[in-house]
Amino acid sequence: MQVPFYSLTRSHKAIRDALDAAIARVVNQGQFVLGYEVEQFEREFAHFIGTKYCVGVGSGLDALTISLRALGIGDGDEVLLPSHTCHATWLAVLMVGAKPVPVEVAHFLIDEGKLKKVITSKTKAIMPVHLYGYPCPMDGIMKLASEYGLSVVEDFAQAQGAMWNGKRAGSFGRANGTSLYPTKNLGALGDGGALTTDSEEIANFARAHRNYGSAEKNIHTQLGINSRLDEIQAAILRIKLRHLSQWNQERLVTAKRYFEGLDQVKEILLPPMPTKMSLPVFHQFVIQTNKREKLMNYLADSGIETSIHYRRPIHLQKAYGHLGYAKGSLPEAERLSEQVLSLPIWPGILDEEVDYVCEQIIGFFKTL
Ligand SMILES: Cc1ncc(COP(=O)(O)O)c(C=O)c1O
Repeated sequence: MQVPFYSLTRSHKAIRDALDAAIARVVNQGQFVLGYEVEQFEREFAHFIGTKYCVGVGSGLDALTISLRALGIGDGDEVLLPSHTCHATWLAVLMVGAKPVPVEVAHFLIDEGKLKKVITSKTKAIMPVHLYGYPCPMDGIMKLASEYGLSVVEDFAQAQGAMWNGKRAGSFGRANGTSLYPTKNLGALGDGGALTTDSEEIANFARAHRNYGSAEKNIHTQLGINSRLDEIQAAILRIKLRHLSQWNQERLVTAKRYFEGLDQVKEILLPPMPTKMSLPVFHQFVIQTNKREKLMNYLADSGIETSIHYRRPIHLQKAYGHLGYAKGSLPEAERLSEQVLSLPIWPGILDEEVDYVCEQIIGFFKTL
């Protein structure tokens, strides 16, 4: 049996006609950048997340960069963030001229208990990353931020629909960014991103910033960039948004099947289970083992594609050498990078495929 890590072709099958019709509608209308579809998507996505405003942009990286810029974060400022994340989280901080300050992780996420001791007079913001679809413990983070007068910018690229204490990821911070990259829980058929906020001022800043700093034709109120969401992508995202809760539910069902199927394997650490406070959307299903490379090869030989998020923590990447972090400075993030393995999980994966993955993992540990 072959089990792909992800199959968009299969997930799109049920909505293929609607996608084709949405594309045709935009082609017939003849407006391709920032029009009716983008406005409608922004309204609908803001409603889904539970914020007053959403601004569609060109990528998740841009959504995070514009969020930081809108909050006035720049030269000399420090931003607290995890090292066990996608490179783009750090890049956004660098893009505005600020300094990323990594904080250790616990259960994949920024460790709220370790935030306080790295706060300095230069700290301006905390960037919690809801990694793998798990919401960060936002009550503690928001309390600390308000105590120290810091902004919160959530990176919810991997957690569209996840909830912390009944509130959606992407609705806690002053300005938050998500990616709409095709493989995200909500993904376009190309690049895209969105900023969410309750602040009209931030939404207006972002609307101008994504369009060369111009909210009104020929009037440039700031130095902006070009990061606009296409009409075709927005029309596609509107269709997909209607299915997002159902797809997230399907991911949860698959995760439960993995939890049950792998329960007996003592050599692996399973990811955290959902709780009353934390409702993840299983963007990834990530196991941990110190036999990762061998297991990954064994599964590949059995026709199962897996992936690693992420193989090297950002503080040890060459591009960040100037920050001076040595191996051993963030032991948990470094351990995760050596032990995490992402299993196939996506809407449309079949029960027998999940069962086959579990059987092969069980089989692998019997060979040792
Ligand atoms: C956690 C996280 N942050 C930011 C990004 C950046 O998003 P994009 O690739 O749309 O720029 C991604 C996407 O890969 C991500 O997973």
